[in-house]
Amino acid sequence: MLSSVLQLAQGMVAATEPAAAATSTGPELREFFIQVAYLAASVLFILGLRGLTAPDRARRGMQLAAIGMLVAVVGTLIDHRIVEFQWILLGLVVGSGVGAAISIWMPMTAVPQRTAISHAFGALAATLVGISHYHYLTHMLHQEIGGVEMAALGFEVMFGSLTITGSLMAFGKLQELLTSAPITYRFQNESNIGLFVVAVCLFVYLVFTPSDAASHAPVFYLMVLVGLAVGVLIVVPIGGADMPVVISLLNSYAGLASSATGFALGNNVLIIAGALDGASGFLLSILMSKAMNRSFSNVLFGAFGGAATTAATTTVAGLTVRSVSVEDAAAQLAYAREVIVVPGYGMAVAQAQHQVRELAELVEKRGGEVKFAIHPVAGRMPGHMNVLLAEANVPYDKLFDMDEINSEFTRADVALVIGANDVVNPAARNDPSSPIYGMPILNADQAKSVIVLKRSMNPGFAGIENELFYDPKCSLLFGDAKSSLTKLVGAVKTA
Ligand code: TAP
Repeated sequence: MLSSVLQLAQGMVAATEPAAAATSTGPELREFFIQVAYLAASVLFILGLRGLTAPDRARRGMQLAAIGMLVAVVGTLIDHRIVEFQWILLGLVVGSGVGAAISIWMPMTAVPQRTAISHAFGALAATLVGISHYHYLTHMLHQEIGGVEMAALGFEVMFGSLTITGSLMAFGKLQELLTSAPITYRFQNESNIGLFVVAVCLFVYLVFTPSDAASHAPVFYLMVLVGLAVGVLIVVPIGGADMPVVISLLNSYAGLASSATGFALGNNVLIIAGALDGASGFLLSILMSKAMNRSFSNVLFGAFGGAATTAATTTVAGLTVRSVSVEDAAAQLAYAREVIVVPGYGMAVAQAQHQVRELAELVEKRGGEVKFAIHPVAGRMPGHMNVLLAEANVPYDKLFDMDEINSEFTRADVALVIGANDVVNPAARNDPSSPIYGMPILNADQAKSVIVLKRSMNPGFAGIENELFYDPKCSLLFGDAKSSLTKLVGAVKTA
């Protein structure tokens, strides 16, 4: 994402290069300013990423990264090879309009698909810049492309093209324009790997064949087409709920494609921004897979998770579920000394974060202490709960990571589980046959009493029964989380 804006700007520089060369003045001085701007932008990107490592610094981190992007774009725009600004201005107006509309009107729950479509745009920018640069060198300058430059260009368009269609498929699945269930057929993994190998062979051919050979351009464009097909075919077998891992992996591909663009165009800030994008996306995918107790290969080839909401079982033999009334739940909360709130995906669906904050403030006014336990994969995207709770102005010092809070559950009078399911499922600890066995969970079951807010006995993302709901000290308050919390706030006030 960081690098897509730069790619477009740099692409325009590449496209206007010949006309400008003749009219440039003081190119050395400009070049000096450009490199200083790129250095400053790179430092700001790194500081921005550092800011994102803690919720209270995240906003500042985003601001630093945005300033870095502005500095990098300004640096690119003072390039002496630019002679016309009208297309650049048009791009800035259209791009800013689309970006502003997405930020203002897309709801928080749609952030995963918003991210997917942004990656598709970023990869489209990288691929178009790569294609136009190839066309410019081979068809306009009639210049032979060296092996190293061709490797950078080929890498850029191959990873760029598969990221375009892969991200569009992820967007379609998350937005439910396409079925979110895995689409599978016989020999799928074999044929996908085969097609990827074809793309790599075309790439190798391009690197080792002189670019003026008659076959060169057709092979180049064939590689783009194969890349587009690979993007579709590798994402269709992955279930909708696994898309966040796929998106962050595609983010890393888009970053690598941008970095390759930087090598092809000799642009330092693109190399750095692309490498930061590529590395952070890859690390995030690994962290998400770990927190879900899944291996990369299982996410990419396992066709797991798509039928999550259809596998509901409503009873466990011989055990019963205890439901609780709003009044009884409110009484427990009103007199509790320590309450730990466990938010999950259902809180995001219900958009209940403001009511959660209100309830927490009420309990604290009555002398109780309220803490929020944040599981790394609660919700459907990294930091999902942090973002929602920050939006509702829940103080950062009330949010605790799993490792910090898990030992405190034994002391808690109430664990209030709001739309969370898998992240508090003791089967991850106790049942080796469970698909989530080994996944680290929040120890809500160790609290003195557990109140769960959910609408039905439907399972969560993993599609499995949760034995916590049958624990004698656990009671369920059925209903939409927002409406249950609104009622609880009213009842705690009068308790
Ligand atoms: P889930 O296990 O998915 O459970 C969510 C629960 O929320 C469901 O049981 C659902 O039950 C309830 N719910 C839905 N809408 C609700 C509403 N309006 N009001 C009240 N309850 C509602 O959520 P979790 O505990 O947050 O776990 C996240 C899961 O997603 C994990 O398995 C994780 O591995 C997976 N995952 C996470 C990520 C990231 S990065 N966060 C990425 C991919 C996958 P009802 O339908 O009965 O209400």
